[in-house]
Amino acid sequence: MRKPLPEPWRVKVVEKLELLSREQRERVLVEAGYSLFAVPSEAIYIDLLTDSGTSAMSDWQWAGMMQGDEAYAGARNYFHLKEAVEDVFGFPYFLPAHQGRAAESLFFSWLLRGSNDKVIPSNTHFDTARGNIEFHGGTCVDLVVDDIRDPSSTLPFKGNMDLVKLRRFFEETPRERVPVCMLTMTNNAGGGQPVSVANVKATSELCKEFGIPLYIDACRFAENAWFIKQREEGQGHRSVAEIVREVFSYAEGFTMSAKKDGLVNIGGLFCTRDAELLEQLKQRILIAEGFPTYGGLASRDLEAIARGIREVLDESYLAFRTGQVALFGEMLIERGVPLLQPTGGHAVYLDAGAFLPQIPPRLMPGHSLIVELYRQGGVRGAEIGSHMLGDIDDETGQMNTLAAIEMVRLAIPRRVYTNDHLEYVADILGEIAQHKDQLKGYRLTDRARAIPKSMRHFLARFEEIQ
Ligand SMILES: Cc1ncc(COP(=O)(O)O)c(C=O)c1O
Repeated sequence: MRKPLPEPWRVKVVEKLELLSREQRERVLVEAGYSLFAVPSEAIYIDLLTDSGTSAMSDWQWAGMMQGDEAYAGARNYFHLKEAVEDVFGFPYFLPAHQGRAAESLFFSWLLRGSNDKVIPSNTHFDTARGNIEFHGGTCVDLVVDDIRDPSSTLPFKGNMDLVKLRRFFEETPRERVPVCMLTMTNNAGGGQPVSVANVKATSELCKEFGIPLYIDACRFAENAWFIKQREEGQGHRSVAEIVREVFSYAEGFTMSAKKDGLVNIGGLFCTRDAELLEQLKQRILIAEGFPTYGGLASRDLEAIARGIREVLDESYLAFRTGQVALFGEMLIERGVPLLQPTGGHAVYLDAGAFLPQIPPRLMPGHSLIVELYRQGGVRGAEIGSHMLGDIDDETGQMNTLAAIEMVRLAIPRRVYTNDHLEYVADILGEIAQHKDQLKGYRLTDRARAIPKSMRHFLARFEEIQ
């Protein structure tokens, strides 16, 4: 059979990569206190820490950057972005923000003002949304379908909201305590799994029945729409652009980090159909981010987003993008590395608990694996397990609650690495599989336990258990 088409672009600019020697990498790890966040980027060979803000922009986006109109108010690029938001999502009102969490902060600080009893359901809140909601006194509830907790389940839409749980939640919670319902797509914290259009529609209908507005966390809207086109019955003949328009027609608004499917290095959006809410948030954005027509960004950045959200709908790009992630998953399986199935849109999620059964979850098998990946091959990944999601007793250093699955996320930046780069990473993991029973667990240093929990996975330092 003919192989799928290769990258639908050609390379115009290159950036040098350097693999440090094994001794240098050992030294880097010690100096960083075994935290991959503390390793300088230039000491990394292949960086799969995140797909956020790490995209390569196109010549069309760079050309747009040169046309930035850096006026304080009413820059032309604001109007270009306004047009793009209307065309792509069908939304009349928006505010730019410097990244996703700034849009979340704007929205949740207003929504939860002066209260401490509000509860916000979602399929799965991403950690910045959770952080913002909890910081403003709210409580988060995750109501995703149960299949997401089964790494071997190949359900096509494991990111879906569980509608039975959501109905029960609405029935049991007084209406005035639920200011909004969120839907994250794709579901990043849950393995990059998509949400079907039928599920968005049904969630929206349920929200309307109970008088609750539905907002989307829209970071990976195009990858989600591509999965709908590929996997959902009756959707295959439609364009991704049409699917995106339908999905967003069911929502009252959305927050978005443009650093993912906006194909830019910085930027975010808050969008709504509610003119009155927009006016309220304009006052807040003036204090926190800047004038409402630039919202904490240079106008050239607005232009790059305007072009990025149109460009990302290109189906040859989406076919390559999701195909590359799936191919990487196959390479890993061939080398005996257990993964969450099916592979997500932007990352592969390794089942570190199954890979390193000798390390109990409280000693962070995921962390052990990312340290070894760097030591062995200069590759950076991220732990999404009990260190990031669990809860440690600050006095004793014991884990109180553990994550449901001990995962390592290898996120693929958009248009940055070739399949050969990913094969190198797969080979390194294959080598680690040969000596994986020698890997040890980690614990937080005493000083790391003093760091506030919500920030800890970024700032913590570790020691290997001998
Ligand atoms: C689903 C989701 N929501 C929100 C955010 C926050 O975006 P930002 O990093 O731009 O603040 C992210 C970032 O990774 C995300 O994946």
